[in-house]
Amino acid sequence: MSVRRKLIAGNWKMNGLKAQLGEVSAIAPLAAGRADIDVALFLPATLIAAAAPLAGDVLIGGQDVHQAESGAYTGNVSAAMLVEAGAGGTLVGHSERRAYQCESSADVAAKAARAHGAGLMVVLCVGETLETREEGDDAAHAWVVDQLLASLPEDADPEWLTIAYEPVWAIGTGKVATPPQIAAMHGALRAALVEKLGEAGEAMRLLYGGSVSGDNAADILHLPNVDGALVGGASLTAAKFAPIIAAA
Ligand code: PGA
Repeated sequence: MSVRRKLIAGNWKMNGLKAQLGEVSAIAPLAAGRADIDVALFLPATLIAAAAPLAGDVLIGGQDVHQAESGAYTGNVSAAMLVEAGAGGTLVGHSERRAYQCESSADVAAKAARAHGAGLMVVLCVGETLETREEGDDAAHAWVVDQLLASLPEDADPEWLTIAYEPVWAIGTGKVATPPQIAAMHGALRAALVEKLGEAGEAMRLLYGGSVSGDNAADILHLPNVDGALVGGASLTAAKFAPIIAAA
């Protein structure tokens, strides 16, 4: 069995002005002492250039990238722009973008491929709504597996691609999926990845996200097939992020 290094990733969403860059400086030393894990912060695009020199071993990334190389896409950010700003990675397919920007799984696959082409690592997010979860665990597993397979780029490889399972009903709600729910979903996603990609599917990291905090991180991070966490609210300050990194 391959050993998967844990990744603790923060997602600041549409939060953070230059006044908050001190938090990046305070998070950097938390990662510096940890050769055994990876730490990343997915920041607003406007902060990337200023944050990158402060981040030390923390990978700084964007929260989305456009699937086209460049062109008439007002308001979007290209992979080359992220790289030039100092990003080493990007999120794609976060449920907030799928819901509010109407991004399809085909869009997400194209974004991932474009980001990889520019040299970025990618965290690709999937997850079911409450409505789907209420149809039962088996229905939720099948739905998320389908979403994952439809969102995977052609050349998916664990060297640059990480998957994050984030149940939509657990994001920003304080409602965490239970350890058995997380373990069962991650088991289903692992099986689907192995069936599709073989050994590469075994080596691909699977993060959990959705109301992860210092209080629940240890229980979640020790579950089988949980290779890290994608953290929203609790990544905004070093004080809240530190216990999650420590739990990994
Ligand atoms: P949350 O967000 O930790 O605030 O629930 C997680 C995410 O959306 O990535």
